[in-house]
Amino acid sequence: MEPTATTTGRSGARSCVSLTFDREMSTAEVEGLKRSLGARTALQVPAPVGAGYARARQIGFRKSCRPEVGALMSVLAAAVPTGGRILELGTGVGVGLAWIVHGLRSRADVDVVSVEIDPRKSALASGAGWPDRVTLVVGDAKEVVPSLGEFDLIFLDVPGQLKAALLDGAITALRPGGQLLMDDMNPYWGKGRTRLPLDGDEPGRVLEDSRVTCALLQYASGMILAARLPDEEPSGN
Ligand SMILES: C[S@@+](CC[C@H](N)C(=O)[O-])C[C@H]1O[C@@H](n2cnc3c(N)ncnc32)[C@H](O)[C@@H]1O
Repeated sequence: MEPTATTTGRSGARSCVSLTFDREMSTAEVEGLKRSLGARTALQVPAPVGAGYARARQIGFRKSCRPEVGALMSVLAAAVPTGGRILELGTGVGVGLAWIVHGLRSRADVDVVSVEIDPRKSALASGAGWPDRVTLVVGDAKEVVPSLGEFDLIFLDVPGQLKAALLDGAITALRPGGQLLMDDMNPYWGKGRTRLPLDGDEPGRVLEDSRVTCALLQYASGMILAARLPDEEPSGN
């Protein structure tokens, strides 16, 4: 895959160009590309993540999260409290999972559970050699989520209409202060690019859920990041 270049600036004036890659590249390659494209920053992928993208290419799977999204998951994973729990819904071939594990580095206090309905993809992901506290579950997220317990971080990364169906369960499974990241949200807000999910329901309704506070992250594939608020005390009269 070609590197992705992102330009930001006012009135077309380029103030910053960043590059992202879906495979590990040598410093010389990165510096050469930065020079040739006038880029100031470059986001590299860690080797285990690059191996994940290679697995995806091997089977022609094109739905792995983009590096910008994965890097954000790494950051959120790194910030999970001691003894925390992380859930990914939609393992794919393990790219997002590799970003999560990258964020955790050598931490052994955090459990990570990833759910995938397709046994073939899950089997491919499981061959990557994960740390002991990573569990891959083969099953339908709609059925298994209620039995998985509570989490400090959830990556809701299943197809659009299913995201809507899983939203309530995902928010319910978040601990207070826990965070939920939803990927591929651009089609739901882009002007002239509206692609409504099949059942007419929208994962974007998370924005109206009073249990969370949200931010729209309008870059890469478009994300919504939500944090679970503390439960409200019943008002006593
Ligand atoms: C966007 S891909 C996941 C990409 C992955 N999170 C990553 O970052 O590499 C969506 C995945 O959800 C899986 N999926 C679809 N329906 C599902 C369901 N009901 N339960 C669990 N996984 C499901 C698909 O098979 C597909 O692998």
